Amino acid sequence: MQLFLDTASVTEIRTMWETGILDGVTTNPTLVAKEGRKFEDVLREICALGVPSVSAEVVATDTEGMLREGRHLRTIHPSIYVKVPMTPAGLRATKVLAAEQTRVNMTLVFSANQALLAAKVGAAYVSPFIGRLDDQGQVGMDLIREIVQIYRNYPFPTKVLVASVRHPVHVLEAAKIGADIATMPYAVMEKLVQHPLTDLGLARFLKDWEKVPKG
Ligand code: E4P
Repeated sequence: MQLFLDTASVTEIRTMWETGILDGVTTNPTLVAKEGRKFEDVLREICALGVPSVSAEVVATDTEGMLREGRHLRTIHPSIYVKVPMTPAGLRATKVLAAEQTRVNMTLVFSANQALLAAKVGAAYVSPFIGRLDDQGQVGMDLIREIVQIYRNYPFPTKVLVASVRHPVHVLEAAKIGADIATMPYAVMEKLVQHPLTDLGLARFLKDWEKVPKG
């Protein structure tokens, strides 16, 4: 399973990249706005770290605009995946971009049928937003189960990218279901590393080591 960071913070990405556990990055207009920096500068810096998959979202809502933005974004770096929203215009744009060998991440997916359509038009990734479904009183993880099952029934190469992850249990459940990727905020990825018994165990080992005769 691949682990992505859902952030536009180059500092966060660099820190996780250095640990060796990071496989990719997803950004969206909200995350980019938080950084207060030019989108392309941020993308170039992330790609320069060597991150192999960096999703960058179009903001146009019509097919022509999406194609224009997508074609431009892909020229920035070979690691760029173009993020396109799940709309009729987005489906049309994805079909064209995919035929041009541009890898598309179809975003804002909230139903299994939408995921089926994303696969049919050739999206490289489908991004179901589970946290936002949970917020609505629907069990987001059930959607992941459905999509994984549907994608197993057919030879679609589209990868399931679990998005809108809010806590480590989301990551654990997604891994048990067999989702390809989970993208999460920095704070969630940090929690995957931590365990109080690891800290306690280490503190005890170091304390006991002081009793070992040296020299
Ligand atoms: C993923 O690509 C999205 O950017 C993200 O996961 C949305 O998460 P949110 O619902 O926490 O905003």
